[in-house]
Amino acid sequence: MGRIDSERNSWGALTAVNDFSGGLLPVLNWYAPSLTSAKETGLAAQSVANIAYFLKAGQNDQAIASGPMAEVVQHSTQHWPDSDLTAVATYLKDMASKSSQVALKAPYESMKKSTTSVRVLSQGAKIYEQHCEQCHQAQGQGVPGAYPALANNRAVLLNDPTNLVQTVLYGGYPAATQLNPRPYGMPPYILELDDREIAAVLTHLRTQWGHQAAEVTPLQVNRIRALQGQ
Ligand code: HEC
Repeated sequence: MGRIDSERNSWGALTAVNDFSGGLLPVLNWYAPSLTSAKETGLAAQSVANIAYFLKAGQNDQAIASGPMAEVVQHSTQHWPDSDLTAVATYLKDMASKSSQVALKAPYESMKKSTTSVRVLSQGAKIYEQHCEQCHQAQGQGVPGAYPALANNRAVLLNDPTNLVQTVLYGGYPAATQLNPRPYGMPPYILELDDREIAAVLTHLRTQWGHQAAEVTPLQVNRIRALQGQ
């Protein structure tokens, strides 16, 4: 993945997304979740210590930094002194708490009810069992310290499925940090699964374990696959 450091600020964000409201990062094709949204990052409900730990370790019990955010943690925030991490975490939590977006809604309230066909769902379940379950586990609970839980994971439920498609196509490594020096990786499926299969397995994740997020379509997968070749 190409890096465009000159255009990033100290958060690794592009100027277009430094208002904390989140957005699709151009060129990189990763979605930066909103830092003020309860649904997307949920910072208002997390402790300052937990947010600071995320920036130091690259993951906590709520989320895992991947893609461009893993680079930010690995190359930048993990090296910050604890006092800076605490200051920034306090600021982020405060901002998220004050934000109007934090209106305490039921977590999945605004998400579309799935109208996905039974065929797609059973195909997704089969692919999950064959390719994903060994790491992420039958109930999506993951393995603490090794493989992230997919059940009740905000990253799985983001309206914009870009990061999910990126992860399944290209695999990935969380940030390597002092607290997590040799993170376990995820294999790429770009050669193994076609657009329909990736859409089906992601739709499976988004409709299992009480999730009610919108389905991912083969066209969405295809667009992201096509972009990378450019
Ligand atoms: C060998 C173990 C392994 C297998 C098999 C595997 N994954 Fe993963 N998965 C991981 C690891 C490790 C991460 C964290 C990667 C990162 O942060 O970049 C991850 C991350 C993810 C994420 C992002 C989670 C988040 O919080 O951002 C999703 C979604 C995902 N995997 C889905 C799948 C699907 C779908 C399959 C099957 C097609 C699969 N995984 C197969 C190990 C695995």
